[in-house]
Amino acid sequence: MRTIFLSLSLTCLLFAGRSAGQAVELTIDAAKPGPMINRHIFGQFAEHLGTGVYDGIWVGRDSKIPNTRGMRNDVVNSLRALKVPNVRWPGGCFADEYHWRNGIGSKRGITLNPTWGGVIEPNTFGTHEFMDFLDQIGSEAFLSINLGSGTVNEAADWIEYMTSRQQTDLAKQRTANGHPAPYKVPFLGIGNESWDCGGNMSPDFYLSQLKMYARFVRNFNPAQQGKDGMLRIAVGPGGTEQGFVDWTETVMKGWKARQWSWDMEGLSLHNYTVINWEKKHSSVDFGEKEYAEILKKTLEINALLDTHIGIMDKYDPEKKIALVVDEWGAWYSPMPGSNPGFLVQQNSQRDAVLAALNLNIFARRADRIRIANIAQMINVLQAMILTDKEKMALTPTYHVFKMYVPFQDATFVPVTFNAGSYTHAGITLPRVDAIAAKGKDGKLWLAVTNLDANRPVEIDLKSVGASVRSAAGETLTAPKVDSINTFDQPNTVTPKPISTQVQGGKLLLNVPARSVTVVAVA
Ligand code: AHR
Repeated sequence: MRTIFLSLSLTCLLFAGRSAGQAVELTIDAAKPGPMINRHIFGQFAEHLGTGVYDGIWVGRDSKIPNTRGMRNDVVNSLRALKVPNVRWPGGCFADEYHWRNGIGSKRGITLNPTWGGVIEPNTFGTHEFMDFLDQIGSEAFLSINLGSGTVNEAADWIEYMTSRQQTDLAKQRTANGHPAPYKVPFLGIGNESWDCGGNMSPDFYLSQLKMYARFVRNFNPAQQGKDGMLRIAVGPGGTEQGFVDWTETVMKGWKARQWSWDMEGLSLHNYTVINWEKKHSSVDFGEKEYAEILKKTLEINALLDTHIGIMDKYDPEKKIALVVDEWGAWYSPMPGSNPGFLVQQNSQRDAVLAALNLNIFARRADRIRIANIAQMINVLQAMILTDKEKMALTPTYHVFKMYVPFQDATFVPVTFNAGSYTHAGITLPRVDAIAAKGKDGKLWLAVTNLDANRPVEIDLKSVGASVRSAAGETLTAPKVDSINTFDQPNTVTPKPISTQVQGGKLLLNVPARSVTVVAVA
């Protein structure tokens, strides 16, 4: 196969409309491919929380809202376009209070959801409905098992129920409930935030629990053995504080000293973009200062990753254990009038920029970060989709995930650039961020984020070793940093084709202010 050597360089050359001092240098070297950007970093998270599942996904078979076996069609169709690689379910904190037997069969248990609003949990969306939902959107299962208030035996039974091909009592029960074939469970989260809502455990206590669950909760699906085995993901840190450093140290050191009887393949990490947990930023009606503050905060994930990847590298230099960022995103104050336990927030152009910055950071660390799940998929926190009864709106974050589809399982290509700076209200941020990758389609893909709230960025892309012949793509910007999509005006923030000029083997790109742009370069 011919190796394509392609280097794109932003020069200081000015073209029409360009003013001095605004150019940002950028070089892509496709001759030095990096690791694969695992498609699973584009994973989603659907917790039984507020209207994330009930109303957001599940409306029931008898609903007037068009649905397929109870799953709303508008949501399913929108998610299919994102090629969602995996969905983490049923929590979150909810997972540590979830008892799976309530959610199977013809008579469902009526329980409570004490963490999230204290509302009734009807359990009408259970194991079979979740797996049907995954089938409908074309995705895979990331199950979080109950380590907080459940037992090893309960979790082991759940996974046997789902995965055994042999006709055990549990497999027969699955057949009786409509699914004779064993399900696939590629990802298993062993607890959730066990240092907090998952049971406030010490690292040593958690490690003892982890060993038991990792040993006894087995996946029996014949198609998921050996190298195709289920990934067991241990609870990991949620900050840079000493307690979290101790947590990662304990789990990784315990893993390093493991005996044949247990193992794990992933370590979770949670990171929310919040400046003050007691007085969170608003998701609507904010200004440039709050835009800059939140973006600065989100970039602090780099320090968090440095800390914990450093510890992982110490015990696992071969990078066998994946870092799984299975909760990330912006967490704002609840929308006025909403149930505070439902974590309802709007989603603006600020969130589109924030999403791109985080995805870029994960891609740059693709050798270690192989799974990530934005919190959460529908109606909760930094959602892809908002619903209200029969209405639906796609958020700016949805559009970023859609634009980034070509980066799924693409090969990372290093980019160097002079980011420049953007300063507002004493907050200085890089002006530009960018990643590039060789897609599975053979194309070179470039994503450029312009953080500057006001100034467009002019870019020259020069191919070294081969001329750029054409480029095409989309840009997502908005009238204001706090522009949102609503049910009445769902298209305020939508991607538009971006015009590119090819001149003398170089690509000229004018990237709008506060934007995310993805182009394919041929
Ligand atoms: O995503 C909301 C909550 O945030 C999750 O349930 C929990 O794991 C985290 O604290």
